[in-house]
Amino acid sequence: MCGIVGYIGNLDSKEILLKGLEKLEYRGYDSAGIAVMNDNGVQVFKEKGRIADLRSIVDEDVMANTGIGHTRWATHGVPSTVNAHPHQSNSGRFTLVHNGVIENYDILKREYLQGVALQSDTDTEIIVQLIDLFVSEGLSTEEAFRKTLTLLKGSYAIALLDAENNETIFVAKNKSPLLVGLGETFNVVASDAMAMLQVTDQYVELMDKEIVIVTKDAVQIQTLNGEAISRDPYTAELDASDIEKGTYPHYMLKEIDEQPLVMRKIIQKYQNDQDELTIDQEIVDAMNDADRIYIIAAGTSYHAGLVGKQFIEKIAKIPVEVHISSEFGYNMPLLSEKPLFIFISQSGETADSRAVLVNIKEMGHKALTITNVPGSTLSREADYTLLLHAGPEIAVASTKAYTAQIAVLSILAEVTAKSRGLELDFNLVQELGIVANAMEVLCDAKEEFEDIARKFLSTTRNAFFIGRGIDFYVGLEGALKLKEISYIQAEGFAGGELKHGTIALIENGTPIIALATQESVNLSIRGNVKEVVARGANPCIISMKGLETEEDSFIIPEVNELLTPLISVIPLQLISYFAALHRECDVDKPRNLAKSVTVE
Ligand code: G6P
Repeated sequence: MCGIVGYIGNLDSKEILLKGLEKLEYRGYDSAGIAVMNDNGVQVFKEKGRIADLRSIVDEDVMANTGIGHTRWATHGVPSTVNAHPHQSNSGRFTLVHNGVIENYDILKREYLQGVALQSDTDTEIIVQLIDLFVSEGLSTEEAFRKTLTLLKGSYAIALLDAENNETIFVAKNKSPLLVGLGETFNVVASDAMAMLQVTDQYVELMDKEIVIVTKDAVQIQTLNGEAISRDPYTAELDASDIEKGTYPHYMLKEIDEQPLVMRKIIQKYQNDQDELTIDQEIVDAMNDADRIYIIAAGTSYHAGLVGKQFIEKIAKIPVEVHISSEFGYNMPLLSEKPLFIFISQSGETADSRAVLVNIKEMGHKALTITNVPGSTLSREADYTLLLHAGPEIAVASTKAYTAQIAVLSILAEVTAKSRGLELDFNLVQELGIVANAMEVLCDAKEEFEDIARKFLSTTRNAFFIGRGIDFYVGLEGALKLKEISYIQAEGFAGGELKHGTIALIENGTPIIALATQESVNLSIRGNVKEVVARGANPCIISMKGLETEEDSFIIPEVNELLTPLISVIPLQLISYFAALHRECDVDKPRNLAKSVTVE
């Protein structure tokens, strides 16, 4: 949540900061601001709303070679111009942007800042006022920064300007992601390399409880105690075109269309010279050593985990539990003797998942992260990583990461099964190839999905997704997509569970989107459809070739039954997309949401 940027160099910083913030808007977009610093001091521009709103109030005539910026997803204090970052100390000397949550801000306020009139309702302002206080008591800026950081409990990525030193940006990180980018005549700071790819592809990762003194010629990383740390930069392997929309009206549509390509890329990345699927032997060993696997994830990644459980249990014959990360801490199940934890996270930054990772590592257990972002926190802190190779996913509603997660989980299950001598009755490489082709067919059928969205969802206030077996899990994801971007109240249910309560909600015209891709439950799910139709529902049945009937709204191509989630989800993604368009919703940046949820 929230994105931060910083620039110090020879160029005017305004445009670089604004462009950087546009690339970070997926992290939060309820307000934004920049602060720029030159010989005349610091000037702050901030505004409620999107970066475009901020852009319209920035004074183009101000020239400054140093600056910081922030795009916000509100935690403490409503979205407003006052609560937007950057925040300034009352003296005006210090200006700061922050991503994270300061848990003890109220205690610090009472203990240190009794006489200070705070301007905002944010936890962040406490940090900048504390730094100012400690400087007024005689500490240098760096000492005051360090002292303040040692008092903070919670998560932070911080960039700080001192109006009396326009040669430096002070930076610190704990739990929230932050990188320093390197240039010939400048250096930058960013929550995500994507933001500053416009000026550099060389980045240095920061670790928790490190501070960095950034000038235009140097980057000094230190521990909180002041010990110097040296760390080599890495090249961010992002193609600038990956993070542009190109001719697409929305990132979400582009990302839906990329799914066949991503499937092919995953096959290629996980194949060896003999065209066999392969993963690191130590991951296979960890799978085989485990007597039970615990999948931990949130949102769409949780839904991918539910499908992954089916693969691992059915193909590799290892028992699996799937848990929502935010619940796991409180409701930790009785663990087996030899558990292996699998964290599924597109961003690799989800704070709830990370909290579980830290906890289970302390307990001495092994962890594998499946993520789209190499070098992300969950990847760094787990014992092993499997990458999704899906390319940056920018739309807040996850699409290609979901199918990539499922594909990688199928490969993990297959490779593990083979290592255990289990016979498989299909060739996964071939089956995933068939999936990629089927995905293309579906992506080419956009007009049909637009019609379905218009017919079933243009005026409704609610919708239900039903399925049995693996279709139920896809229905959960379909419902999440629809509610996230169209604001239609949508829920996914197991077909058989409907009549235990939810059927009371069915009225004349209530849309029911039913998935029928599994032969063993085809008749039962169609029976469930009849039950709701008898009560006035408007059914939209999406079936698979070979199982279709005349009443079906769309028939997806035939693929291996276990892999149907990879393609049955595409109609649901596209129907949600068109429903949101018809309702004139902001598809890529739905209200109240953020893509990377870095607060617990
Ligand atoms: C947010 C996003 C979802 C995502 C979830 C988990 O809620 O809006 O699209 O599924 O976080 O994110 P992760 O990066 O851990 O997969």
